[in-house]
Amino acid sequence: MLNGAFGNTRSNSLMSEYASLLGDAVLRHRARIAEQSARIEAELASKVKSEFIANMSHELRTPLNTVIGFSKLLAEHERRKLGDGEIVEYAQLINDAAGHLLAVINDILDISKIQSGRYTIDAREVNLDEILQAAIASFRVSAAEANVTIQLRIAIDLPPIRGDAVKFRQIFTNLLSNAVKFTPAKGTISVEALRGSDGGVTVIVRDTGIGMSEGELLVAMTPFGQVDGGRARWREGTGLGLPIAKALVELHGGRLEIRSAKSIGTEVVVILPSRHLVTVAEGRDVGAQLGHEASQRA
Ligand SMILES: Nc1ncnc2c1ncn2[C@@H]1O[C@H](COP(=O)(O)OP(=O)(O)OP(=O)(O)O)[C@@H](O)[C@H]1O
Ligand SMILES: [Mg+2]
Repeated sequence: MLNGAFGNTRSNSLMSEYASLLGDAVLRHRARIAEQSARIEAELASKVKSEFIANMSHELRTPLNTVIGFSKLLAEHERRKLGDGEIVEYAQLINDAAGHLLAVINDILDISKIQSGRYTIDAREVNLDEILQAAIASFRVSAAEANVTIQLRIAIDLPPIRGDAVKFRQIFTNLLSNAVKFTPAKGTISVEALRGSDGGVTVIVRDTGIGMSEGELLVAMTPFGQVDGGRARWREGTGLGLPIAKALVELHGGRLEIRSAKSIGTEVVVILPSRHLVTVAEGRDVGAQLGHEASQRA
């Protein structure tokens, strides 16, 4: 009897000792996993940062060199006796380069504004049909030069939605810019706008371009992240277009999803809520959700 009770007490204390050892082991294991994922995240952030610095200096230096070089030629007009054609051409090159610089700077300002929660958007009833047509029209020349076809299909029952027309244009410009940039000759880009199940609008931008693997997609969604950033410089860009588009969609209470397959193509789905459901998110909330992520492409 006494032995039995003693035996029980002993086995209970052994059990609780095991339980506490096991608990400690689980806690140590969890801490190790957390440490490992923090290290992987830090490594990815540092890789993206160094690629960003390399790309940014290229992005800023190239147009600045154009501005400095051609304005110097214009300043030496007296000595060089430039013809009217040359003067116009140099002025045009300076104007293009300055426009590009401004676009890059605007992207960076947008990102920091979204991250700090100081980004506000308008919420009016807008007609997405017109916005998509205008965005596509602005790529007509570059698509023709790249020998890529752009198709647009709009559902006849497309409802009006609420939001900021300028930001919507920016979202689709960013997505189309990527589709044109990463689709080789003879490829097709299709833009489809459908009525969503909740009475909102779903827009799908598909391309038959180079596509991305799952890992590359993660890099692409990181601000300043560019797939194969080291070698893809000739394509230009700062790696901000996609994160900015995603952040702008989320500011409208929507979602941006990407599916992509290497060498097959990419599909970006923008889901915008019904105009009756739109409560335009406070910049601060979205900024906080975004963490390192953020926002444009002209
Ligand atoms: N449609 C696409 N097909 C294949 N790769 C894509 C596509 N869209 C984006 N990517 C990849 O994702 C990266 C990030 O895209 P993002 O639009 O953010 O930046 P970017 O186009 O490089 O520069 P920016 O848009 O700032 O001018 C691209 O550099 C590219 O590697
Ligand atoms: Mg882009």
